Amino acid sequence: MVAVIETNSLTKTYGSLVAVNKLNLKVEKNTIHGFLGPNGAGKSTTIKVLIGLLKADSGSAKILGQEIGWDRPETRAHVGYMPELPKLPKHLKGTELLDIYGRMYGMTEAERAKQVPELLDVVGLGDRGTDLIGQYSKGMQQRLGLAQALLNAPELVILDEPSLGLDPVGMVEVRDLMKKLAKQGTTIFLSSHLLHEVQQVCTQVTIINRGVEVTSGSLEEISSRVEGPLKIEVEVNNLSKPILEKLEALPFVDNVSRSGKKLLIELTTRDDVRSEVSQAITNAGGVVVAMNLKGESLEDVFIDLLGTREKES
Ligand SMILES: Nc1ncnc2c1ncn2[C@@H]1O[C@H](COP(=O)(O)OP(=O)(O)O)[C@@H](O)[C@H]1O
Ligand SMILES: [Mg+2]
Repeated sequence: MVAVIETNSLTKTYGSLVAVNKLNLKVEKNTIHGFLGPNGAGKSTTIKVLIGLLKADSGSAKILGQEIGWDRPETRAHVGYMPELPKLPKHLKGTELLDIYGRMYGMTEAERAKQVPELLDVVGLGDRGTDLIGQYSKGMQQRLGLAQALLNAPELVILDEPSLGLDPVGMVEVRDLMKKLAKQGTTIFLSSHLLHEVQQVCTQVTIINRGVEVTSGSLEEISSRVEGPLKIEVEVNNLSKPILEKLEALPFVDNVSRSGKKLLIELTTRDDVRSEVSQAITNAGGVVVAMNLKGESLEDVFIDLLGTREKES
């Protein structure tokens, strides 16, 4: 596996605040890697250090195999970056802004003339390129920021909270775009404070909280790491006390709670014991109307991991 981003004990402080604390981040080539953490976790700071906007206090980092920390125009040409809520000059038109960036990347006039309209199309601004940025909505500005990050067909695209300011439709479009880019071989590193966003688009995740890495791995790996027992939610007609007693007596049942026609059965196992539960209810004279198995979602895992960190500090 080739790492396109690799940090080693990377640390960045603001005065007495340690915003990024001995971070060992590894982003592999051809992945969509989510950098997940609550607001203030240190995501933007890490990204700014990676792209050279801030200087680390200690530790080191490599991007595309090159040490960061000094000017590397040849690396920079292969990395696209979209800042958190990009602030774009309002007096320029969308096409003008992209053209200026294109010139900065050393693209020829012919390349710019071809790529600028193409990219505007890709981000859904095809018909608004000649409008002033000042007339763009937040979401449109975010998309233009994305187009700017994609100029010059970078190998690695770093997006800081790409869905901030986007409406739900815009979020779906940006997500699809990320998947399309990944298919074409672009590595995408995106930060987010939204678990569901990361879940929907990323294959790999690093969770950070208070500057410290909490966990890292594939979505499945992270989910399976927290192996809580399963729960069964069941709706029963003719619900009676004997049914409850029968269920409570089952060896793999930890607790049963009732709310109206519904029972929540907490198990001591992760085995699927729905048929045994159903049998027990039927034997005691109940009729199962609906049943479903509930495992811990990554949402629970996320909250759990952050909670653990909270207690430790
Ligand atoms: N320029 C700055 N000066 C001082 N503190 C900062 C500055 N930027 C960020 N911070 C602090 O550093 C921590 C990490 O911030 P940030 O990297 O922006 O987190 P995230 O992007 O995960 O929300 C926060 O506590 C934040 O208040
Ligand atoms: Mg941020």
